[in-house]
This record gives sequence, structure tokens and C-alpha cells, in this order.
Amino acid sequence: MKRKEIKEALKSENFEQEIVVMGWVRTKRASKNVAFIALNDGSVIHSLQLVVDLEIIPELELALMHTGAAVSAKGKLVPSAGSGQKVELSVSSIELLGEANPDEYPLQPKKHSLEFLREKAHLRFRTNTFGAISRLRHAMIFAVHKFFNDKGYLNIHAPIITGSDAEGAGEMFQVSTLNLEKLSFTEEGKVDFKHDFFGKSANLTVSGQLEAELAALALSKVYTFGPTFRAENSNTSRHLAEFWMIEPEVAFFDIHDDMDLAEEMLKYLIQYALDNCADDLDFLSKRLEEEEKNKKAEDRSMELISKLKFVLEQPFERITYTEAIDILRNSNHNKKGKFHYPIEKWGADLQSEHERYLVEKHFKKPVILTDYPNEIKAFYMKQNEDGKTVRAMDVLFPGIGEIIGGSQREEDYDKLLKRMKDMKIPLENMWWYLETRKFGSVPHAGFGLGFERLMLFVSGMGNIRDVIPFPRTPLNCEF
Ligand code: 4AD
Ligand code: MG
Repeated sequence: MKRKEIKEALKSENFEQEIVVMGWVRTKRASKNVAFIALNDGSVIHSLQLVVDLEIIPELELALMHTGAAVSAKGKLVPSAGSGQKVELSVSSIELLGEANPDEYPLQPKKHSLEFLREKAHLRFRTNTFGAISRLRHAMIFAVHKFFNDKGYLNIHAPIITGSDAEGAGEMFQVSTLNLEKLSFTEEGKVDFKHDFFGKSANLTVSGQLEAELAALALSKVYTFGPTFRAENSNTSRHLAEFWMIEPEVAFFDIHDDMDLAEEMLKYLIQYALDNCADDLDFLSKRLEEEEKNKKAEDRSMELISKLKFVLEQPFERITYTEAIDILRNSNHNKKGKFHYPIEKWGADLQSEHERYLVEKHFKKPVILTDYPNEIKAFYMKQNEDGKTVRAMDVLFPGIGEIIGGSQREEDYDKLLKRMKDMKIPLENMWWYLETRKFGSVPHAGFGLGFERLMLFVSGMGNIRDVIPFPRTPLNCEF
């Protein structure tokens, strides 16, 4: 008989036919004549209750159906008397598929800490929390593609191995087949990459933007959605060494069009989650509420679903970096020395504490900051007339800080070349990028959304290591 998914079984009102379900035991309790097994197959957050008459199964066999064991059960659905479920399965036969010795199986039917579960990332998919996050993550991936597809954008696969540094920040992982124990050197004493796989030094990409720009300057509307890698030694709850980024790039767009697209996309994705992931969000909301109970009232975050709806209803605040610096510098928070990095003068790079102050305390809604000092932004951003700022735009979110970074791009060949030289960007790796400014250059703009930062926001989780299946962070590359 074909397996029925538990998601379908729980919705079914067919009490006549026998069905077969398969999954993993979450809990089991036995009374005198019957055993109750909560079975989960990952198709939905809820488990199906199996009611097993002890007469149909030898005691020894039932004893093996512990938490974590895999079983297959056949039976008829019946209306459930218990609370929390409409139906349960009255089992006619049940079979053990895979044992999970309780002396060794690390997951107990109780709440485990997220830190503990990170060490058990091979099994944490089996918890309610990671089941919910996995389904939500899938829904968000699907929604990203749907959003762009419905608008006529083309998805471009940017390369993962590159010979250039898209952000010019030097935070790259190297890719090489050289034998590190037997390196050969040039006369200047540098590693000789001529004998390396690509005949030159290569690295993992930090962003697909530069390649997306090439495509946009022919196809007009494109986006990438791929893994990106940063070898920055940031051990925070918002940084990964390997994360996924969505990067639309659009010809004939200026910074205002770019902001409009960013706001529209974020709202679309949040709405999609509310419309399609109600059960999982409900669970995650309760989880967050439990977690927040340990915090002081003023530090508690808003209830998850209200927070998502709240963001949908607000037009994002749009201000310049210069205005933001004024607000921050004059804030009581700054005057009382409450910032770890006090804001003294124009030009300071904003830390997440400043971003979050603007969003959470001052404006109380998402904020888009534009026109940052050129000194703290990448070489490709369009230079403003003032000679000091560039047409950057960062979207800041509650609880997160920067969720999107983007800009209008410099389309003028001479200005771009000068800035690249000033910033010591190796031109020999970038000739192709510069050529697009020689041949049919047009204004264009784009941005990058950190997919795991979006996941943090939508799931209400507090640590980025818990919204990606297998996090890569400094000193951590298990699984
Ligand atoms: O601001 P970033 O560095 O911008 C770029 O890479 C541009 N090339 C994007 C573009 O214009 N096409 O990164 C974009 C976003 C950030 O706003 C943040 O959400 C996320 O990527 N991000 C990270 N997420 C997790 N871990 C990290 N180490 C991240 N670094 C950036
Ligand atoms: Mg940024």
C-alpha cells in the first residue's frame, strides 16, 4: 500500500479506507491496553497519534519503538477524542523500520538547548523547531523565485569560483590545487600561481553582483540566488562564512527604483510566509514567547506574527546617512555613552547597535539609509556630485540591522576607473567589468539580500546558525 503523508492524513475525513503512514516516533506512552505513539514525517509540524492495541504487537517489539525509531503503521483514521487533533490512526498493524537505542539516541522528548542541537546538526531536523525552519526556508526560497519570475526577471547563475574580489574587501577563501607543503615562489617571493589549476589565483565568490551586472546590461532584469563566502572573522549571531544571497540587478534603474524593489520584495516574502506557513509560524511564535519570558520586559521583542504584520503595514523610512548621523549623535543614547562605539563625527561606519537604534528606538519601523560616505563603501557605487558620498542604500530591520545592501552603480567609465585606481583594485582582474562601461553603458542598480538574515527575521530565531542547516563559522566546519 502506498504511504500517505501525515500532512494529508491529518486533513483527511475518509474514515473508511485503511492507510499506511511512515515516520519517526516523537513520543510514546502506554497504558494498560493501548499505546499512544506520536509519529512525525516532516511533511507538517504536527504529529499523527497512533493508537496501538497492545494485543496486535508483541511487547518486546513495541518496546523498541522509542523516540527516534522509524516505524510504518497501517490502520484506519478515526475522529480523535484527544485535544489538539481532529483525527488519529487506529492501528491494525505496525512494523519497526529502524531502531534508535535510547541509551545512545541524543534527542529526548523534551526541550533541548539550541547550542546542544547545533552539535547534533545531523539529527536536529527531527525537532519541531528545525522542522518548522526547514519548511519555512523552503517556502522563502520558492517565494524568491516566484517573485522574480512573476515580474519577468531572469535567474542568472553567477560563478562560485572567481578570479576577482567583487566587494574589494579582501575577505576571500582561496581555491587552489597547489600542494601547500611544496609551494613554488616567484622572484618577488610571492606564491607562483602559474602552476595552479586555473593558472592564476582563484577564490570563492563573495557576491554574484559583478557577473549579474554584465547580464543586466543586456537582459535588463536579472537576479542571482547563490551561495557566497566571506572569510571575515566575525563571530556574531548574524554572520556566516557561507551564506546565500539574492542579488537582483536592473538596467535603467536608479537608486529610488532600487529601494522600491527592495521594499516590495521584502514585503512580498513576509506576506508569502504569513499566507503559506501559518502552522510553522504559529509554532515559532510560541517558541519565541517562551524564550522571551527570561528577558526583561523592555528587552522583549514583539510577538512574531504581529511583528511580521507590523512591517507589512509600514512604509519603510528613507533617510540619508548624514541625517542618520545627526539623529544618532544627538540621541540621549549617545550622550549617555550607551553605544559601545560612540558616534562622534560624520564618516563613521555604522555598527549594528546604531542601525538597530534607528530602527527599534527612533523610527520604530524598517529604515533605508542612502548616500553613505564613499570611504566606507565599495568601489562600484555611483559617486554623488558632492564628491564625498555614493548612491548606496542599506535596508535596516528590527532585531537584525542590515538585511539588504545595495546601490546604484557607477556607469561612467572614467569615474569608475579613477575610483578603482584610488582604491587599489587590481585592474588586470577586472578588465571585463570596465569594458561594460565602454560599450553601451547605462544607469543601473541592484542590491543583495542576505537570505539567512531574512530567515532570522521571519522565523524569530536569534542566531543565524539556527536558520541554515549546516552553518559555517570560524573554527566550525563539522557535518
Ligand atoms: O552588503 P553586502 O556585502 O553587499 C554585497 O555583497 C553587494 N554585492 C550586494 C549587491 O549590491 N548586489 O552584502 C549584502 C547582504 C547584507 O546586507 C547581509 O544581509 C548579507 O548580505 N550578508 C551576510 N549574511 C550573513 N553572513 C555574512 N557574513 C554576511 N555578509 C553580508
Ligand atoms: Mg553591506
